[in-house]
Amino acid sequence: MSNQDWRPLFEEWKKEGIVKHVTEEVKKEYEISTLMMDLEKEHKYPIMIFDNVEGNEIPVVTNVLGTRERFAKAMGVEGKNVAEEYAKRIKNRIDTQKVIENPPFMANSMVDDEVDLYKLPIITHFPIDAGPYLTSGLVIAKDPESGSETLGFHRMQLKGKDKLGISLHSRQRLWEYFRRSEEKGENLEAAIVIGVHPNISLGSQALVPYHKGKYGAIAGLFGEELEVADCSTVDIQVPAYAEFVIEGEILANVREKEGPFAEFTNYACHRSTENLFKVKAIHYREKPLFHDLTPGFSSEHITVVAIQREGDVLNALRQTLPNVKAVSCPVSSCGIFHCYISMKKIAEGQAMQAVFAAFAVDHHIKLAIVVDEDVDVFNEQEVLWAMATRLQADKDVIIIPQHMGMGETLDPSTDELSRTSKMGVDATKPLEGFSPKIELNPDVQEAVKRLHKYAL
Ligand SMILES: Cc1cc2nc3c(=O)[nH]c(=O)nc-3n(C[C@H](O)[C@H](O)[C@H](O)COP(=O)(O)O)c2cc1C
Repeated sequence: MSNQDWRPLFEEWKKEGIVKHVTEEVKKEYEISTLMMDLEKEHKYPIMIFDNVEGNEIPVVTNVLGTRERFAKAMGVEGKNVAEEYAKRIKNRIDTQKVIENPPFMANSMVDDEVDLYKLPIITHFPIDAGPYLTSGLVIAKDPESGSETLGFHRMQLKGKDKLGISLHSRQRLWEYFRRSEEKGENLEAAIVIGVHPNISLGSQALVPYHKGKYGAIAGLFGEELEVADCSTVDIQVPAYAEFVIEGEILANVREKEGPFAEFTNYACHRSTENLFKVKAIHYREKPLFHDLTPGFSSEHITVVAIQREGDVLNALRQTLPNVKAVSCPVSSCGIFHCYISMKKIAEGQAMQAVFAAFAVDHHIKLAIVVDEDVDVFNEQEVLWAMATRLQADKDVIIIPQHMGMGETLDPSTDELSRTSKMGVDATKPLEGFSPKIELNPDVQEAVKRLHKYAL
């Protein structure tokens, strides 16, 4: 089996005991996401497979992307290092693809009049949602000018047997490719893949210039050519081992109300570009697993966003500050608004340089906190301790007003023009003359390992 297929990873996750099955019937409305949110409050993140979803024969899997460890396993590294590894690999583009004949998703097909999205277990997540939503779909399309392909997550509202509402509100590549196509009065051919390897989900968030393909960046994460296969009704190649492939087009000059939808910032989002995706064909594998990515303020939505952001900020900072040690964009900030940076400071003022560099990479970052290298940025208690004991707000905090923000339905604190202020915090200690931190004796630490068992 290819190592670009997510199925072998499930075998490993099963051995780890983190894949749990629910065999009793669950309702299509709210039950799955409510359970996942409850578990999340208890800091439990199992991969859940619902074998028996009301009115459907296809099982639903969720929380596949719920932890850093799962992305790490997918790349073959240890938990916390995943952003570091992403940062390294994303630069190693491989711009050719390997075409796979007879891909497994061609095992079952519905084409033209047979197309029926209601045969898929597309569920309704939260009471605020406008209806059932496809949440794990990665939408693939080509730039009408350069022919480069893009791939990214987009929420899609189930509106009919062959009709999905889609929002391109991030205004990234798909939005621009569609704009270019609509300008010519043409629909944009597109394909949606569901159920793919975590490297593909993570690479979909990479920042890539319009004229370059995203597959080249994703291949960098695998360290080999991306394996793709042809669609049957549109001129698009898709990752070859997707569980489901939905083919069709985004219609030019058609808009229809879409949303609201419970978004990852924990608010109902009414913002939408209100586009329509008309489906021409649906293909799926034997014994398919339908991925429902838990939306809302969930680790599954936020972790993928956070790792990409940490990796891109790391790469940008290290161009001028090679002494940056680690970057964390915590779940508490939706993986997007706050950024903790640790560094081995060698000159006073470098922390503020890091603050400005981070703001320049990503306009979403509202708060950048810089700490010394002895602080673990993945441990928020340590970051807050550094702020408590190494920060004086009159000297170490900078506020930048009227910056581009995320928009009031995702970040309700922004102003009427969607502007936000930004705060930079230097929570590093001075290079000279600061109180020494309490340290443990490493020899004694080693010696007392024998006593830990008494505390279990
Ligand atoms: C789970 C998830 C859901 C997302 N939903 C949307 C969405 O509905 N609309 C949107 O414009 N961006 C959404 N995004 C952000 C885009 O996926 C991201 O900006 C991506 O890079 C866009 O791909 P593109 O460059 O091909 O446009 C989502 C991201 C994640 C992780």
